[in-house]
Amino acid sequence: MIVERKSHRTRIRQLAALHRLQPTLLRQVNTSSALHLSPALPAKYIRVRRANDPRIRLLSASAPSRMIVTPLTKLLGIRVPVVQGGMQWVGVPQLVAAVSEAGGLGVLTALTQPSPEALRTAIRETRKLTSKPFGVNITLLPSINPPDYEGYARAAVEEGIRIFETAGNNPGPLIKYFKSQGCVVLHKCTTIRHAKSAERLGVDVLSIDGFECAGHPGEEDIGGLVLLARAVKELKVPFIASGGIADGRGFAAALALGAAGVNMGTRFMATVESPIHQNIKDKIVASTETDTVHIFRTLRNTARVFKNKISMEVVALERRPGGAKFEDLRELVSGARGRQVYELGDPEYGIWSAGIAVGLINDIPTCKELITTLERDVEEIIGQMTGLVQASSKL
Ligand SMILES: Cc1cc2nc3c(=O)[nH]c(=O)nc-3n(C[C@H](O)[C@H](O)[C@H](O)COP(=O)(O)O)c2cc1C
Repeated sequence: MIVERKSHRTRIRQLAALHRLQPTLLRQVNTSSALHLSPALPAKYIRVRRANDPRIRLLSASAPSRMIVTPLTKLLGIRVPVVQGGMQWVGVPQLVAAVSEAGGLGVLTALTQPSPEALRTAIRETRKLTSKPFGVNITLLPSINPPDYEGYARAAVEEGIRIFETAGNNPGPLIKYFKSQGCVVLHKCTTIRHAKSAERLGVDVLSIDGFECAGHPGEEDIGGLVLLARAVKELKVPFIASGGIADGRGFAAALALGAAGVNMGTRFMATVESPIHQNIKDKIVASTETDTVHIFRTLRNTARVFKNKISMEVVALERRPGGAKFEDLRELVSGARGRQVYELGDPEYGIWSAGIAVGLINDIPTCKELITTLERDVEEIIGQMTGLVQASSKL
């Protein structure tokens, strides 16, 4: 909303008086969550706000009147370029629908469902909760007895899913199948090399997962800052930033690095609609960025998980003279135990994925609150940044 200069000033004075804010004259209006002004407003306008003053947000309860528009929002038909990445045991209909309803892209995790038929049911359940677009994640894991990937893929396509997130080893056949069915494919990878080969396979969007991420960060240990700066130079298709993003600053930084949006996992675990036990959500809020650890490093299948008794025991076994084989760790790392962490609410019971973004999470909002806040914060940060560049004569 662009307001007349005079009424704008009057309203600013009223708001400042009401909230006992000290009006600050700035040369450029970017955004005020009270007024939703366009960042494109000419510099003569006045902005009244104190940086990071929490009262500012109280001034407006309505949804932002403008949007962050990127190739991702256009391609997927979503309002906000935020994807909730696939999450084993977490990416279930209630969370997925809440993310999509809030304007992002919710993603169901296929392998959380015990069979392709169960995935059909989960897709139908999600559809009852939202009419907005949502996707399905299929993660290809190294496994002696692989799940029926094809069956999951076919069931989802038959149920009308047109957006897929693929991850893991050897995704070629799956990507080819989805593309032959006219689907949009977001492929998650942790190296530029893998991103480029996925690009050659015809994926529509790459999800570039930095070393910060929960789950599998690969073996190269490249943080998001460098990975994304490389991605923007090397990739032809749009990419989104994944790993370590949990707030508007990370989101804005990802856009600055050339990403068309963000993918978040850990942040969505600590939301009202996330299906995990309240104790685990509280544990995430109480944790810092030092509370995760890598397991399976020595097996070259690194996974970032929450630091607890079990994960530290796994690390100790891997580091003992002679190391450890998967067989030695199997019992400790069992998926069933991990699942029970979320059901029983005991963070020490098993292995559970978490990224260093835990250090950025201080609350448990609804998905709508989270996404609205992200959107506003990004808008505000980008607006503030335009003020960094000034005519050199005025310095
Ligand atoms: C609890 C949890 C389970 C996850 N499970 C999967 C999975 O099954 N497949 C997958 O591709 N990624 C999985 N991920 C990774 C996320 O999709 C996402 O890439 C990652 O969380 C991004 O990093 P962030 O947690 O720092 O936001 C999982 C992440 C979490 C937190």
